[in-house]
Amino acid sequence: MTDTPGLLTIRRPDDWHLHLRDGAMLQAVLPYTARVFGRAIVMPNLVPPVTSVAAAAAYRARIMAALPAETDFTPLMTCYLTDETSPEEVARGFAEGVFTAAKLYPAGATTNSASGVTDIGNIMAVLERMAQIGMTFCVHGEVTDGDVDIFDREAVFIDRVLEPLVRRLPELRIVFEHATTSQAVQFVNSASANVAATITPQHLHINRNAIFAGGLRPHAYCLPVAKREEHRLALRAAATSGSPKYFLGTDSAPHPQSAKESGCGCAGIFNAPHALESYATVFEEEGALDQLEGFASVHGAAFYRLPVNDERVTLERAETRVPDTLAGPDCALVPFHAGESLRWRVRTP
Ligand code: NCD
Ligand code: ZN
Repeated sequence: MTDTPGLLTIRRPDDWHLHLRDGAMLQAVLPYTARVFGRAIVMPNLVPPVTSVAAAAAYRARIMAALPAETDFTPLMTCYLTDETSPEEVARGFAEGVFTAAKLYPAGATTNSASGVTDIGNIMAVLERMAQIGMTFCVHGEVTDGDVDIFDREAVFIDRVLEPLVRRLPELRIVFEHATTSQAVQFVNSASANVAATITPQHLHINRNAIFAGGLRPHAYCLPVAKREEHRLALRAAATSGSPKYFLGTDSAPHPQSAKESGCGCAGIFNAPHALESYATVFEEEGALDQLEGFASVHGAAFYRLPVNDERVTLERAETRVPDTLAGPDCALVPFHAGESLRWRVRTP
């Protein structure tokens, strides 16, 4: 980190949890991420989902083809786990450098999770193989039972699924994706160094009141849903603590404005356009700007056993107004912080 008043230069960050979509949407949203971030763990919940080495290699090629000219960005691919996934397919993809990680979507938990895993027991052989080969297991940590309150689904998942799994396979490397609760923070803090978590900008900025502020606010709705204020504060403490267990994962998840502003609005917040500025605002509010580089650019690479990026990015202290909408493919996209001002701006060369 370089310390000039009003300027903050850090190692180029990575995004360890990102939805890039496909086709024209990929084309529209990829430049926002590639401008700032060196690498991203790309989520596999396309339609149909990315469940094979061949599908991931093809998707990676489409991402590379969509990159703006002279942009240096590396997509890190993930395997969408289903009840039928074979340990051989996952291990082969990892050995060939196509899969960086494999992702658990409990069936029905979120957008495009219908083909997800119905019971963790169904993928135990896959997880045993991943533990052997040191491959990271990315977890959407929510139960889907209709009788569990939506605000409790993460905490219940930790009790029912994750704690028993960690006891059974302590060597498995687990990223608890988009942690949203103090229970997740407690679980990650007390677990071994094999367990880490990503935290999104929205869960650092908003609590569940934001979803109902003066009316129903679809652009504050994502999964896992934002929780009470005490949870937001626990996440801010964890993110800014300097612990190597926490790193940046935006969960940027674009949906057309019309699909968000609907009688059944999609879950997902599109935060890629101002993600680093959004995190920097939080770290500054917490008096922890000196911890931003670790969270954004160092801890994730270390967990994934990858080198850190050599390049640097500079944030400058400047009021940045976030547009109300941005152009998507034949649609508008409403970014996180739409219409608000942030205190930082990423300098473009
Ligand atoms: C994500 C999406 O739209 O793909 N939505 C979200 O609310 N985060 C899926 C996910 O990560 O749960
Ligand atoms: Zn996600």
